[in-house]
Amino acid sequence: MRFFVRSMTLAAVGILIVSSVSRSQDQKDDQSETLASNQLLMKDKLVQMNRILEGLTLDDFDKVTKSAKTLQMISKAASWHIVDPSPRYERLSKNFQEQSLDLERHAKDQNIDAAMLDLVRLNVTCAQCHQHMREE
Ligand code: HEC
Repeated sequence: MRFFVRSMTLAAVGILIVSSVSRSQDQKDDQSETLASNQLLMKDKLVQMNRILEGLTLDDFDKVTKSAKTLQMISKAASWHIVDPSPRYERLSKNFQEQSLDLERHAKDQNIDAAMLDLVRLNVTCAQCHQHMREE
């Protein structure tokens, strides 16, 4: 049962990752210029999210910890910030940082359930921020 729940959660996370990316790809054309360097960071985020998923699946907590740290660095990089961010963007960006800190802590504690939940929360934040960008 526990394994079943875990696989279902991982499957849901996988779907979230895929859908948040394919949707943000659609509207790439509009806002390009200022976001060019941002895009590289975002692509790397996707790589880190996959590593985290892999780490959680294989109980490789080192991998999860490393990627959580990388996510924190990415979200602190200057180019992560957009021109004239809205208060909501700022808030989502801050949530993202806090969630990746939680993930790092839980991975170090080898608390797989908490870490899994952090991954889901991070995914929701990815999707919320992209949704927010589409609406702006
Ligand atoms: C606080 C806001 C915010 C958060 C959180 C966020 N992103 Fe983004 N993301 C952006 C912005 C801004 C863009 C550029 C506009 C666009 O393409 O939608 C973007 C674009 C992307 C792109 C497309 C890059 C390209 O080549 O066009 C990917 C992939 C991406 N994000 C992945 C992620 C992943 C994975 C997460 C979560 C781990 C995440 N993002 C979280 C703001 C955010």
